[in-house]
Amino acid sequence: MKSTSSISVLQKALIAARKAGKPIALVPTMGALHEGHLRLVDLARKRADYVVMSIYVNPTQFGPKEDFSKYPRTLAQDKKLAAARGVDVIFDPASLYYPDDSVSVHEAEQSLGRCGASRPGHFDGVVTVVAKLFNIVQPDVAVFGQKDGQQLDVIERLVRDMHYPIKIIRAPIVRDRHGVALSSRNRYLSATAYQKAVAFAEALRECATAAGNQPVARLKRKLAKISGLKVDYVEASGGRLFAAVKIGKTRLIDNRKLGKSR
Ligand code: PAJ
Repeated sequence: MKSTSSISVLQKALIAARKAGKPIALVPTMGALHEGHLRLVDLARKRADYVVMSIYVNPTQFGPKEDFSKYPRTLAQDKKLAAARGVDVIFDPASLYYPDDSVSVHEAEQSLGRCGASRPGHFDGVVTVVAKLFNIVQPDVAVFGQKDGQQLDVIERLVRDMHYPIKIIRAPIVRDRHGVALSSRNRYLSATAYQKAVAFAEALRECATAAGNQPVARLKRKLAKISGLKVDYVEASGGRLFAAVKIGKTRLIDNRKLGKSR
């Protein structure tokens, strides 16, 4: 596996892959890799012959009071995991912004509500960095996880409205054996906090399954009973039930298909 933080070195490798007729897949991440990220790589490998994984903790998608500086950075371990899973090249730029960067992308519809309401500016940071990555890599396909369902809605608009010739693949949510959606932020949870995350995942599953029975109100009621857990939002969108909570300082998001019995 190659690894580079240089755009021109990356692009040389991409030219060679394209000359060899290899379809290219991009898997954008912020690192601190876990099985959820690695399943995206599995899907990418099914769809393409050359897999680029970007690892970049994008500053513009973090609010001023959010965890940018504390976000876990585990590059050496990430490289081992990515290589073992068949990534062809890791792209880990030092920065994708100029000090006087003056162009950004704004998505004005899908980013309303849900995480967009509690994280102002977050999705503009996401679409801006994803547009930069698309322009640098020019992949045939790009894989994103349903864990961040609203992010996928926003990125699908970016691709449609900006006419990117890129196929977006939605990867299913990967959960641990207690049903908690894997997240780089789970490592912040103490044992007690983790038990609350399990209760959150379980409540979401129950309420999404009991569809037709006011799932939003029902989930809000259930979550209110978990001590030490603060509800950020509960919303239904596109046939799924979405929720974000705070357990201590850790913010967790999750979503489930409404009306499905798993
Ligand atoms: P990050 O949080 O590192 O996630 C990278 C990708 O992994 C996203 O597409 C996310 O949805 C997916 N993912 C994370 N946990 C998952 C899980 N449990 N199951 C399935 N997929 C999962 O999302 C970002 O980074 C950034 O916003 C990024 C798109 C890289 C732009 O900076």
